[in-house]
Amino acid sequence: MNSKQWQCVDAGSDYCPCHLAEENSCIICTQLQGKGYCDCNWMGVCIYDEFYFSGNKKKEVREPKEYSVIDSKVVGRVMVLSIQVTKYMARVLKQPGSYVFVRNKHSDYFFDVPISIMDCDEEKSLIKMAIEARGIKTKKLMDHGGIIIVRGPYWNGIFGLNALKTTQDAKCLVLARGIAQAPAILPIKHLLKNNNVVDIIVNKRADEHNFIEEYFGGPIKEVDMSSNDVAILCRKLMKKNNYKLVFIGGSDVLQNKVIKYMKETDNVKFVTTNNNAICCGEGICGSCIKKDKTGTLVRTCKAQKI
Ligand SMILES: Cc1cc2nc3c(=O)[nH]c(=O)nc-3n(C[C@H](O)[C@H](O)[C@H](O)COP(=O)(O)OP(=O)(O)OC[C@H]3O[C@@H](n4cnc5c(N)ncnc54)[C@H](O)[C@@H]3O)c2cc1C
Ligand code: FES
Repeated sequence: MNSKQWQCVDAGSDYCPCHLAEENSCIICTQLQGKGYCDCNWMGVCIYDEFYFSGNKKKEVREPKEYSVIDSKVVGRVMVLSIQVTKYMARVLKQPGSYVFVRNKHSDYFFDVPISIMDCDEEKSLIKMAIEARGIKTKKLMDHGGIIIVRGPYWNGIFGLNALKTTQDAKCLVLARGIAQAPAILPIKHLLKNNNVVDIIVNKRADEHNFIEEYFGGPIKEVDMSSNDVAILCRKLMKKNNYKLVFIGGSDVLQNKVIKYMKETDNVKFVTTNNNAICCGEGICGSCIKKDKTGTLVRTCKAQKI
């Protein structure tokens, strides 16, 4: 992997260096890619030093733990859970892009499903998530019995974190379709905290619960996101408002459609949900690997484009 183009979301965290360092496959450090020289863009504490001084060993890995569900509400096919976690977990999961793996306490580890943190109350050590019952893993979660197994924290649920965190005093547009409203809540809060003005568009469908409205109130535009109307509307709004950042929560099809219509616009940064199949979240299993434009294989559970 080209260490100049991709950053690791875990770099410098409590979980770095990781398994990839032990296997000469670190996303950032050329020394820990077995190249024998230093050539990285990482500005934090040297990953090679950390590895060397801890006896050429990775840090502790994230262990699954049982937590209590203190509130559970079903809205159509979606279950909204409030989970009591530790102070540490609440602190590290309040970042936009945070997600955890969850499973029913009676299920084996391969039922682990990545679910975004919709909201986080650090003072009360509570995390909130919205889970849509789709297939085997998510349906099994509906019957949680008051206890749920959580493995985390993970942070690469959103691509473009750097743009999101550095945008301030600007006009921004957020699009969120269906359950992808859940990973949009923390980014919207972050943008508002940084003094941005945020316009929000959600999908127009009678049976879709509008979480965003519950959090931020109106006026929130609704548009049919399955048609091209959404891209045409974004283009129109872009011309009028000159957005500096556009967040798209939804499928790759939706993301590509909107980006295609806006690409000639100057200076707009795109932030999108990570829709890849994520299984281990640790850069090991390979289920999330995608080729970038240069043909490089990228472990999208960990890599962020610089
Ligand atoms: C970072 C991230 C955050 C997510 N946040 C949420 C959330 O907040 N709420 C929510 O309801 N869903 C969320 N999802 C999607 C959720 O993980 C999938 O819907 C779930 O894994 C489907 O599993 P299943 O067994 O119920 O259904 P399946 O029948 O196995 O699959 C249904 C659909 O989900 C996709 N899928 C299956 N397994 C995975 C996987 N391991 N990773 C990603 N997609 C998968 C399949 O490709 C298929 O399109 C998130 C996914 C990712 C990657
Ligand atoms: S999810 Fe296993 S390598 Fe990315």
